[in-house]
Amino acid sequence: MNTAIARSVSESFTQNFNHPPHLYFSPGRINLIGEHVDYNDGYVMPAAINKGVYYAVAENHTDDIFFYAMDFNEHFSINIHQIKSNQSWKNYVLSVINEFQLLGKNIRGFNCVFAGDIPIGSGMSSSAAVEGGLAFALNEFFKAGLSRVELALLCQRAEHNFPNVQCGIMDQFANMMGKQDYVILLDCRSIEHEYFPLLLAGFKIVLINTKVHHSLASGEYNVRRQRCEEGLTILKGLLPIQSFRDIKNVDELEVGRKSMTAEVYNCCRYVIEEMGRTKKAAELLQANDIAGFGKLMYATHEGLSELYRVSCDELDFLVEQAKKYPAVIGSRLMGGGFGGCTINIVKEEGIDHFIEATTTEYQQRFNIIPEAYLVETADGTSEITLTP
Ligand code: GLA
Repeated sequence: MNTAIARSVSESFTQNFNHPPHLYFSPGRINLIGEHVDYNDGYVMPAAINKGVYYAVAENHTDDIFFYAMDFNEHFSINIHQIKSNQSWKNYVLSVINEFQLLGKNIRGFNCVFAGDIPIGSGMSSSAAVEGGLAFALNEFFKAGLSRVELALLCQRAEHNFPNVQCGIMDQFANMMGKQDYVILLDCRSIEHEYFPLLLAGFKIVLINTKVHHSLASGEYNVRRQRCEEGLTILKGLLPIQSFRDIKNVDELEVGRKSMTAEVYNCCRYVIEEMGRTKKAAELLQANDIAGFGKLMYATHEGLSELYRVSCDELDFLVEQAKKYPAVIGSRLMGGGFGGCTINIVKEEGIDHFIEATTTEYQQRFNIIPEAYLVETADGTSEITLTP
């Protein structure tokens, strides 16, 4: 936990509102493998991490909501009867409130301060962390009685609605259901899940942030989702299937090829291949075959870059560089793409050299200083207390 941020959020709350808040930590996530398959009924393998968003919240017994987003130094207030879409961070918090109201839950006025340590656009899902922290707090304050899984689904709907990002369930699920020292193997079709201990003896997960976030990322995200839907509709007309999950291997895709644009075909191909890889990767991880797992990560990156086309020069460069270091077992872009981080599994003794050398090479090539993070897994969103 980042006690400094938690403390400053709490202090800012007391200064702004003159009464003590409840404090919450809402984590970001990593995803080991299974990218862009959550909205295609696939399996994903995320974990909540110790970077996220800290919320200070308390009821104010009025009909007004007051927000202070510390990272943006922005105040915003709204009447509970006038919730509608807005822009930037406001859309995420307002959309969460709207979803409670759509369920007929009685949300009253409250005060709220929040701040975090996930760089926006880094692919660690700051948006799910913003949604999840608020949803968790409101569920408690206003006794909405939703389970963690219901809250994750509510947050996913919230992201679809005002921000209009047609995301899958992975990020919100990891945010609510994460467990320290475990990754989740989540079946996005049934929402069934298993926890695997993250046994990476001798290895660590290193994220390298390109520090770029190409615009239109959310628009392109929705376009990928549409291509998959278009491809699936064609395939459903030709094969006895309900979803990509029912396709056994990539050869089955050929029946639909001539009815599809090249973009649609390539997206479908990627999805079917990635589903196969994720299944295999889960077995390798359970067998502690980290080397085998790493190879699949590289293959995922290639698919995301060449078939799904959600990479960019900066991410491709980092993955190519990673291949030069024997200490790096696997590397790929993580999250939605178009910038953000690569996720790398690196032997402990080679981490410092890898980070230093990559930083220099990346800076020389793009004139941007990347950031590296050693991430630890964490529990899902929860209330926290600060020791005085
Ligand atoms: C974003 C979305 C997720 C998922 C990933 C790609 O993080 O929010 O639902 O689709 O991209 O795997």
